[in-house]
Amino acid sequence: MSAASNLLKQHLQQRQLLGVTHIPLRPDALDKLSGLDRKPVTREIPETKPISVESAPGARAILDNPPPETKKPGLIEVAGDTIEEKLAALRTMAETWEPARALESLRQTMVFAVGDPHAKLMFVGEAPGAEEEKLREPFVGPAGQKLTAIIKAMGLDRPQVYISNICKFRPAMDNQGSGNRKPTAEEMKACLPFVLTEIDLIKPQVIVALGATAAEGLGMPGSVGGLRGRFHSTSGIPTMVTYHPSYLLREEKMGDGIRAKRQVWEDMLKVMEKLGLPISEKQRGYFQAK
Ligand code: URA
Repeated sequence: MSAASNLLKQHLQQRQLLGVTHIPLRPDALDKLSGLDRKPVTREIPETKPISVESAPGARAILDNPPPETKKPGLIEVAGDTIEEKLAALRTMAETWEPARALESLRQTMVFAVGDPHAKLMFVGEAPGAEEEKLREPFVGPAGQKLTAIIKAMGLDRPQVYISNICKFRPAMDNQGSGNRKPTAEEMKACLPFVLTEIDLIKPQVIVALGATAAEGLGMPGSVGGLRGRFHSTSGIPTMVTYHPSYLLREEKMGDGIRAKRQVWEDMLKVMEKLGLPISEKQRGYFQAK
């Protein structure tokens, strides 16, 4: 019997246990269920005496602990007993994710995520670049080094946080070389179920969206200037939008990185406060006198 057929049977048995003897079906329901084993799907459940909750062993337990939702919209269902096992299963699914492959605009190497599956803080970037593709780890190139420095300045180590990208594949370009481009909305949409499922599994206390593209991918369109400095929400989790580390590098190169750096640091102080992390006078004072 298929998994879907099993679920349906379970559901019907539970209803029956609770005294339900008839379940109305829409006229097209049987056709929709044609892929299932039809035997247990009858228009009527054979007459049984309604059983009271008190006299039915198990009925109270079902009422008190309703069966878990088997599917949350927008999320991928993964097998496994632990977060680690579920993330491993999710990673395996990402390798051959057809909606991303079908676009034919993303490269083949999948770059998933790195860090502590039990992290309180999760960073979300846009897509892997050349270095990330080579090492199959997000944020390991120059922007990654900048991000690692920010994490350190917060008093954390990189392995203590979880770092992921909306898009799990490096966006392809003509004459690619070491060039990178931002993922399109379509490319992010194709991969979005992964990052949303990661968020659902990890349940971080705070998410930081790095740059406007990541923010847009998570459903917060707008400029970083307009979004940063306050918390938004991703699946109910407080989310800070701040400048992408690549932007800090670009500003530094132009000779004026201090304003953007100060703004990112102000955002990170808010994140630290939200997480209840200790903040020293030195940390509070970074950039103040400059
Ligand atoms: N930029 C991103 O957004 N993600 C990476 O992994 C690397 C650079």
